[in-house]
Amino acid sequence: MQIMGFNDILTFYAPRIETALCGCIADRGLAQQTVADAMRYSLLGGGKRLRGALVLEFCRVCGGSVDKAMPFACGVEMIHAYSLIHDDLPCMDDDDLRRGKPSCHKAFGEAMAVLAGDGLLTLAFETMLAPQVGESVSAQLALRAAGELARGAGLYGMLGGQCIDVEKEGCLPDAQTLKQMCTLKTGALILAACRAGCILGGADEVRLCAASEYAQALGLAFQIRDDMLDCIGDAKTLGKETGADVRQGKTTFAGLYGLARCAEMVAELTQQACAALSAFQDTAALATLARQMETRMQ
Ligand code: IPE
Ligand code: IPE
Ligand code: MG
Ligand code: MG
Ligand code: MG
Repeated sequence: MQIMGFNDILTFYAPRIETALCGCIADRGLAQQTVADAMRYSLLGGGKRLRGALVLEFCRVCGGSVDKAMPFACGVEMIHAYSLIHDDLPCMDDDDLRRGKPSCHKAFGEAMAVLAGDGLLTLAFETMLAPQVGESVSAQLALRAAGELARGAGLYGMLGGQCIDVEKEGCLPDAQTLKQMCTLKTGALILAACRAGCILGGADEVRLCAASEYAQALGLAFQIRDDMLDCIGDAKTLGKETGADVRQGKTTFAGLYGLARCAEMVAELTQQACAALSAFQDTAALATLARQMETRMQ
C-alpha cells in the first residue's frame, strides 16, 4: 500500500479497512446466514475506523508495512463492533440507533445481536491468528499483538469498564471512578490498538511507552468528547441518539464537570497526546488525528 502525502488518516485508511472487512464474513449460502448477516450489518458500512487506523499508522511510523498490519486493524474493528452491539442491548444502554441505522438488536432481535457480538469477538482472533497471517508477520509478533488486543478487550480492559459503567448507573459520579471506568471501557482498546501497531512495526520499549502515552491521553479525551456529544451533538450527524446518558442515569464527564470544563480537559489531553509523539518521526498525521478528535461532531 502506497502512503504518501496524506494528512487525514481516517479518510485514507477507513475505505481500505472497510474493503478488508468486507471479505471476512460470508454474505450468502450459510445455514447460519442470519447471524453472519447480523455481523455484517454491524461491522460494515459505518464507523470512523479510528482503532483500525491507529493500528495501521503506528505500524507505519515504526517502519512496518501497513498491509501486514491489516488483519489486526480488522481484528480491532471487529472487537469494537462487538462492543457496540452489546453496549446497545436493552440490558445495557438500551439504544435503538447506531451508526445511523437501527441497532443490531432492533434489526435482528436480541438473541441474534448477542450471537453477532460473540461471533465478531471470536472472528477477530480467527482473523489475526489465521495461518496466512504467518506468511507476513512472525508468529511471535502476531501473538504479542493479538495478546495486547485480547487484554484491551477483556476483564482488564473494555469489558471491565463496561462492568463499572453498568454498576454506576444512577450513582453520583466520583472523579476517580469515572476516570477508571473510561480508561477501561474506551481507553483500553485504543491503547491496545496503538501498541499492537507498534509491535507489528518492530518498535522498541521506548516507542511502545511513547505510543502508550499518546493512546492514554487520546482515549480519555475521546470518551470525554463522546460524553459531551451526548449533550451537544445531533443524532443525524452522530448516528446515535443524543440525551441517552441522562435518560439512563449514566455517570459521565459532562455530568460531573460540565461542558466547559470538559472542553478544557479534552484540549489538555490532546496537547499531551501530541507531545508524546516526539519519540517518533513522521507523526504529523497522528497529531492531526488527535486534534480532529478534539472537535469531532461524529
Ligand atoms: C463509540 O466509538 C463508542 C465509544 C467508545 C465512545 P466510536 O465513536 O469510535 O464509534 P464508531 O466506530 O465511529 O461508530
Ligand atoms: C461505550 O461508551 C463504550 C463501549 C465499550 C462500547 P458509551 O456507551 O458512551 O458509547 P456510545 O455513546 O453508546 O457509543
Ligand atoms: Mg455504554
Ligand atoms: Mg452506549
Ligand atoms: Mg456515549
